[in-house]
Amino acid sequence: MRPLTARRSDALQGTAAVPGDKSISHRALIIGALAVGETVIEGLLEGEDVRRTAAAVGALGAAVTGDDSGTWRVWGRGIGGLVEPEDVLDLGNSGTGARLLMGVLASHPLSAVLSGDDSLRRRPMARVAEPLRRMGAQVVGRAGCRLPLSVTGTGEALAIRYRLPVASAQVKSAILLAGLNAPGATTVIEPTPTRDHTELMLAHFGAAIEVEQTDEGRAVRLIGQPELAGRGVRVPGDPSSAAFPIVAASILPGSEIRLPGVGMNPHRTGLLQTLRDMGARIEVENPRDEAGEPVADLSVAAAALKGVEVPAGRAPSMIDEYPILAVAAACAEGTTVMRGLGELRVKESDRLAAIARGLAACGVAVEEGEDTLRVHGSGTPPAGGAGIETALDHRIAMSFLVLGLAAARPVTIDDATPIETSFPGFARLMGDLGARLCAAGNGR
Ligand code: S3P
Repeated sequence: MRPLTARRSDALQGTAAVPGDKSISHRALIIGALAVGETVIEGLLEGEDVRRTAAAVGALGAAVTGDDSGTWRVWGRGIGGLVEPEDVLDLGNSGTGARLLMGVLASHPLSAVLSGDDSLRRRPMARVAEPLRRMGAQVVGRAGCRLPLSVTGTGEALAIRYRLPVASAQVKSAILLAGLNAPGATTVIEPTPTRDHTELMLAHFGAAIEVEQTDEGRAVRLIGQPELAGRGVRVPGDPSSAAFPIVAASILPGSEIRLPGVGMNPHRTGLLQTLRDMGARIEVENPRDEAGEPVADLSVAAAALKGVEVPAGRAPSMIDEYPILAVAAACAEGTTVMRGLGELRVKESDRLAAIARGLAACGVAVEEGEDTLRVHGSGTPPAGGAGIETALDHRIAMSFLVLGLAAARPVTIDDATPIETSFPGFARLMGDLGARLCAAGNGR
């Protein structure tokens, strides 16, 4: 356990490059492992979650190397070419790594066992196992289909047409990755669109993949057994990591920061829209395209925020950003209402409960419903002065540290270690911008 304390800070100033996008990093390693030839990845997130996926694709027979300059190379084995791992694949804290790899394994004739940390072993996997079984894989997990779990895949997978019962990019991606080695068309229909990094990257690697709007929703159709060729991938900065300095700069008076090279995929920008609705001053500059993904530079200046109603339909485009949005809401004037948050209960922790508990401990008026959250901001800094249990959840950890930068009294999180999963160097990056973060008990 590594406690960390955030103290009330002055204005944030400067420029900071946030680490690479977690979702895109996992996909670059996995799709690179299924391509023929070399994939060169620049800007890969070198966090714990992605390192676990790199180790897993290595155990499945792809050659993966990373050098000191941050360039990663994957020599893929081609579709259907991965080999049985000799040991358990330990995905640590990573739901994305575990679920996407389940899809890959499902259409390979081999058996593998997946496990992870206490948090990942609690997370539901039936949502992935169910469609993969329809494709011909055998998936056996603990009660409720929890990890450790075994997948025995098939070399003769069936292409399916599947309507997602939950809005989940991970489930969609698992089916598409399994469909890569199934002859014919695999179609996933999503009533509410989710992040489309898998679709964009498969197209970038040469797969035939089409997206169509239908009466049932967004239909993604992949033709199986394409020849994927190794490619160059430039991973943009993670908008879900940028969210922390963006909110910190918005709530600390006088702040002005710049964040170059942040991913602007429209399925990920719900937080920016919501913060703007609240009155935030965020400029999007130099929009461009990098390896099929939209990217831009962001400028953020402090602003007086107002409470808003966040529509439930926006949830998939900001699903990981509710903890930090709740912090912005706690510093705003008026009530912010967030709906459609059921999925937050099955993230790295029960995030809905963790946000409500943490805000209440920091003196913020909050109401937690089954899948709603109401945060009553007074327009003045929260009291703070609390200890926060992070329950192996990196985003809860970072969110409450940001709250502590604005609060009247310091906020201490019990363990900063999980931050490494998605945002290595968080404390240093925030410190360089002027945030007062220090090891607990070490008043700076
Ligand atoms: C992710 C999808 C989302 C998100 C997670 C990353 C992805 O999960 O919360 O952090 O990379 O596909 P769900 O698919 O469970 O919504």
